[in-house]
Amino acid sequence: MLAHRIVASVLQPGEMAVDATVGNGHDTLFLARQVGPQGHVYGFDVQEEALARTRRRLEEAGLHERVTLLRMGHEHMAKAVPVAWHGRIGAVMFNLGYLPGGSDRSCITRPQTTVPALEAALRLLRPGGVLTVVAYRGHPGGAEEAEAVRRWAETLDPDRFVAARYAFCNRHRPAPELFVVVRGVAG
Ligand SMILES: C[S@@+](CC[C@H](N)C(=O)[O-])C[C@H]1O[C@@H](n2cnc3c(N)ncnc32)[C@H](O)[C@@H]1O
Repeated sequence: MLAHRIVASVLQPGEMAVDATVGNGHDTLFLARQVGPQGHVYGFDVQEEALARTRRRLEEAGLHERVTLLRMGHEHMAKAVPVAWHGRIGAVMFNLGYLPGGSDRSCITRPQTTVPALEAALRLLRPGGVLTVVAYRGHPGGAEEAEAVRRWAETLDPDRFVAARYAFCNRHRPAPELFVVVRGVAG
């Protein structure tokens, strides 16, 4: 997965990372492996179903002690992540939309909370840290949310952040998009 490759090139063993939408736990597990035994991951989701699946996945891999799972909207991440780590997070990952295989497809991420969460995530990043957002246009509300993320990314100060948008061209349609924001090392 492209987002994993990008994060893997930035996130170092011993660092802290955030999974803003744990869902089925694939990204959480990836981040837990990446930060290693000395690092830590904070994971957010509003659904207990998602947290339970993720907890099970982490336990099966023996990596649950590296992860703090919180049933909390990602828009509150700045309150949940210890202040000592603000500005020191290596990577934050968002994977928007609904929980695949979940019982409630109406529980989706929404621009009203996603955009404040993206703002909060940027403030947590260390210099050189990376934020990734996978946005889907196929479900109701998905296209509007992807547009909101694009508009938000376009407002970022180019002297402080590099913001890019990848459009997948050989996957299901409408194709998901990957937004990548890297904090400049001086900014
Ligand atoms: C596409 S899934 C994430 C998939 C996940 N990254 C994985 O690897 O399996 C999106 C998740 O966002 C969650 N979600 C919806 N609103 C949220 C919010 N405000 N804060 C955090 N998570 C939210 C949903 O419950 C759902 O589990």
